Amino acid sequence: MPEPVEPVPIRIEPWADADAFLDLLRRNNAPEMTAHLGGPETEEQLINRHKRYLGVAESGTGRMFRIVLDPDGDTVGGVGYWDREWQGQMVYETGWSVFAEHQGQGIATEATRLLVARARSEGMRRYLYAFPPIDNVASNAICRKTGFSLTDVDEFEYPVGNYMRCNVWRLELADIGPQEERPLPRGDSGNR
Ligand SMILES: CC(C)(COP(=O)(O)OP(=O)(O)OC[C@H]1O[C@@H](n2cnc3c(N)ncnc32)[C@H](O)[C@@H]1OP(=O)(O)O)[C@@H](O)C(=O)NCCC(=O)NCCS
Repeated sequence: MPEPVEPVPIRIEPWADADAFLDLLRRNNAPEMTAHLGGPETEEQLINRHKRYLGVAESGTGRMFRIVLDPDGDTVGGVGYWDREWQGQMVYETGWSVFAEHQGQGIATEATRLLVARARSEGMRRYLYAFPPIDNVASNAICRKTGFSLTDVDEFEYPVGNYMRCNVWRLELADIGPQEERPLPRGDSGNR
């Protein structure tokens, strides 16, 4: 496991229809980056993913971001949150990625802290969930360090035919009841 280091300065930038964002998806598509997610996608699937990420913000069902080094502006990864249904309740789900050469410097942890602050400021959902595979040491460490509580272990199918045992981490964003939350738009079944 890498030694703890001082986090490098980063910011998170909302998803936009610009090359930097599509390039991020292409770089995230490497076999080692998608090992926990069912493997690489085709170029067509990536373009559809890009449009979906733009649509998430337009429809108000979440937000995707690129993680940017400050002050250079280089992309080093991505992070986001989106609506999903979980055990009969509408929640946000989050996920993250950092390019291999920038890993182990606290970037994903800091980006997740910024994302949590952002999701809190939106005030639309009570809970933010993360579902990292049980063997994804780094992602489980990020959850532990950014204020999530481990609530359960469950089996997930993603993509179709690929089964993963995942930890169920939950973080309370706001003390609001279901009646104050926005309902899930019809046909939206999540992002990843
Ligand atoms: C998961 C990922 C985003 C972590 O990014 P990162 O910027 O390296 O994470 P951080 O530097 O903030 O480290 C978070 C924790 O994980 C640990 N960690 C980082 N890389 C690790 C590795 N390869 N093995 C074990 N632990 C690791 C860090 O030491 C830190 O824990 P600590 O503070 O207790 O020491 C990155 O590895 C990645 O993009 N992986 C591929 C995609 C992926 O798995 N996405 C998540 C799907 S759930």
